[in-house]
Amino acid sequence: EQIKKGSYDHFMQKEIHEQPHSLTTTMRGRLKDGGVLLGGLKEHLKTIRRCRRVVFIGCGTSYNAALAARPFVEELTGIPVTMEVASDLLDRQGPIYREDTAVFVSQSGETADTLLALDYALENGALCVGITNTVGSTLSRKTHCGVHINAGCEIGVASTKAYTSQIVAMAMMALAIGSDQISSQGRRNAIISGLTRLPSCVSEVLKLDAEMKELASSLIDSESLLVFGRGYNYATALEGALKVKEVALMHSEGMLAGEMKHGPLALVDENLPIIVIATRDACFSKQQSVIQQLLSRKGRLIVMCSKGDASAVCPNGSCRVIEVPGVADCLQPVINIIPLQLLAYHLTVLRGFDVDQPRNLAKSVTTQ
Ligand code: AGP
Repeated sequence: EQIKKGSYDHFMQKEIHEQPHSLTTTMRGRLKDGGVLLGGLKEHLKTIRRCRRVVFIGCGTSYNAALAARPFVEELTGIPVTMEVASDLLDRQGPIYREDTAVFVSQSGETADTLLALDYALENGALCVGITNTVGSTLSRKTHCGVHINAGCEIGVASTKAYTSQIVAMAMMALAIGSDQISSQGRRNAIISGLTRLPSCVSEVLKLDAEMKELASSLIDSESLLVFGRGYNYATALEGALKVKEVALMHSEGMLAGEMKHGPLALVDENLPIIVIATRDACFSKQQSVIQQLLSRKGRLIVMCSKGDASAVCPNGSCRVIEVPGVADCLQPVINIIPLQLLAYHLTVLRGFDVDQPRNLAKSVTTQ
């Protein structure tokens, strides 16, 4: 086992640091001549373009990856996207139509809830697309078509490199579906060039490792941690909080920043640590005002911002700032999750918990 971990202490740590490579393999051979080539979808692109809606279905981190993809899938394809947690879709027996494209996201391809939701969508006649890391898995066999994310084997129970590869696979899927739209060619080109730069930006953000360890040591005794995001980075908030709760065994909630004043604001005091994701995108000025409202209630803030924006997000220097490299706005979630993965990892080690086998959890949940 130690040989497989190489110079790392834990699989989760290794998998976090592998991301420049895993993202490269996710994209290898698929970005061609300013376009995207996804062999597994080619035959079905026309049907997908004509569908009434895309329904994303998954659990846990895979659901969060789909949530991160939702805004750019809507933008690049013009198709409405709805989100379904697999178990909730089954509980409600929610409507799925033959005109739907149901996209199932699962690292293992063997999650029981996701597979049951797949059976349900197949019975209802939807076109079923699989996004998985496991060639030959039940998900990849039962879906009509799909994309393998090729992130390499993920061993740590906490999913890290699969999350970023899932987002990138779905970005390529959105580019392929939207490739017939002439008016958005410029936007697609910008995203494709962002994708090619992504592995080197990920290498850069991984240099925050020591800073995240230091931040973790300041949070070690906290009982709770809130993470506020919106727009492209709502999913980042949910996923960062999920990582902290599942491995560091600390209560943590990811929240929509737009919902802050509708309840969560009551929790704010000088003790509760709050991470606010405020990297540059169309929501930036709204996040600046969220930060101001939190500071005026003496909130203990940790703000994630784009490089060079420290004084723009925190003019009086009263919050801790994490500066990350900027990429195309819709790809920023791939960068922004990495400091939070590192934070969850270091918090776990410092709190003395098992990083790779958190209590009560299994890597693949094959029972309902
Ligand atoms: C991720 O850190 C979790 N261990 C968990 O939420 C996981 O993503 C979920 O169980 C879904 O697994 P899958 O991607 O293999 O379907």
